[in-house]
Amino acid sequence: MNKGLLVGTLFGLSVGLVAFTLPTRSLPAQPITVADSLQLDKETGLVIDDRLTLVKGQCTACHSSKLIVQSQLTRDGWRQKIRWMQRTQKLWDLGESEPVILDYLTRYYGPKERPFDGRRLPLPKQQWGL
Ligand code: HEC
Repeated sequence: MNKGLLVGTLFGLSVGLVAFTLPTRSLPAQPITVADSLQLDKETGLVIDDRLTLVKGQCTACHSSKLIVQSQLTRDGWRQKIRWMQRTQKLWDLGESEPVILDYLTRYYGPKERPFDGRRLPLPKQQWGL
């Protein structure tokens, strides 16, 4: 067998093998979640992720989720809010759920980054070719 034929045969075999092992069924349609296109829960307006049910259960029992959506707090700020509700609003001890809820709140309702203090970005430097 000459070299060309051998290479050709091997190539043919590997193409066949790949085609054979490729899944034949199509993947189920899944919502794609990228950083800047978060999916929102219709009922509460809260960001959908696997902690949503927990947060909904613990945090929308007494008041609207609007109070959460409108807030932008650091992790510490959120912890203090929870303590305040526990002290004055009869919020229960969140136990092991607390760090999970704090992760969720800080991730989606944390302080917004404002690198330029709300002002527009500086214009790019122009080269006028003088
Ligand atoms: C036991 C009832 C109760 C539960 C459960 C509860 N809260 Fe509250 N929360 C309150 C009350 C009462 C207020 C004051 C509402 C008002 O001012 O109208 C409040 C206010 C707030 C505010 C606004 C605070 C401010 O400074 O104006 C935020 C934010 C908040 N809650 C977030 C949460 C989060 C996050 C959770 C889940 C960990 C939660 N709440 C669970 C009772 C509760």
